Amino acid sequence: MNIDVLTLFPEMFAGVFGSSILGKAQEKGIVSLRAVNFREFAGNKHNTVDDYPYGGGGGMVLKPEPIFSAVEHVAGEGEKPRVILMCPQGETYTQRKAEELSKEQRLILICGHYEGYDERIREFLVTDEISIGDYVLTGGEIAAMAVIDSVVRLLPGVLGNERSAVTDSYSTGLLEYPQYTRPAEFRGWSVPDVLLSGHHENVTQWRRRQSLYRTWKRRPDLLAGVELTERERKWIEEWESDGNGKM
Ligand code: ADE
Repeated sequence: MNIDVLTLFPEMFAGVFGSSILGKAQEKGIVSLRAVNFREFAGNKHNTVDDYPYGGGGGMVLKPEPIFSAVEHVAGEGEKPRVILMCPQGETYTQRKAEELSKEQRLILICGHYEGYDERIREFLVTDEISIGDYVLTGGEIAAMAVIDSVVRLLPGVLGNERSAVTDSYSTGLLEYPQYTRPAEFRGWSVPDVLLSGHHENVTQWRRRQSLYRTWKRRPDLLAGVELTERERKWIEEWESDGNGKM
């Protein structure tokens, strides 16, 4: 997979692209990550990438030429890649979207900084607009890092333990169950007996119940998208009738 980020601040990506799982994924040749300064595609004497808005008003607007030229340059001839605009007005990013994007061969992400975008970029260049949440960042860069990180970790061979991407929060539709490691007792707080029992089936059932409980408690909106057994529905009814949901 190839991911190109168009930004005025490519240096922001050096640490993220070079470290940890993303760094390793590139070393393994699974993904190629590039941060491209679209100022290089300004095509005018002063390398200007933004201008005043027609109709007046405050702020600056990113011009279309540098962005179109940069996308055409990184995309190569005849390709129709996914071109993703990072902006607070975009669709809210989810694990489902990460899974969808991880199936692509090439992604191009566009990051604005302070400025708005000329609407023709949205209309005639971009295929997706993504927001990482209902808050406003100073630029799309940090949002792009979140998207790239969540996509790359889904690529086959990136995570050592393939299962960890399957069972983590959101991939199952539920939040993850509580995890423990040694020591079995720490400052008087002990690990639940079932996890020390060696009884595999009981452990699986306990984890499923914990996942459900945590989701019901913290993110009940997620339960609508999950298939539940008769017994699981009963558990939830019990927590509900209990008021504060004691387990
Ligand atoms: N740029 C500024 N805020 C953003 C957000 N919440 N998501 C994506 N891009 C942004």
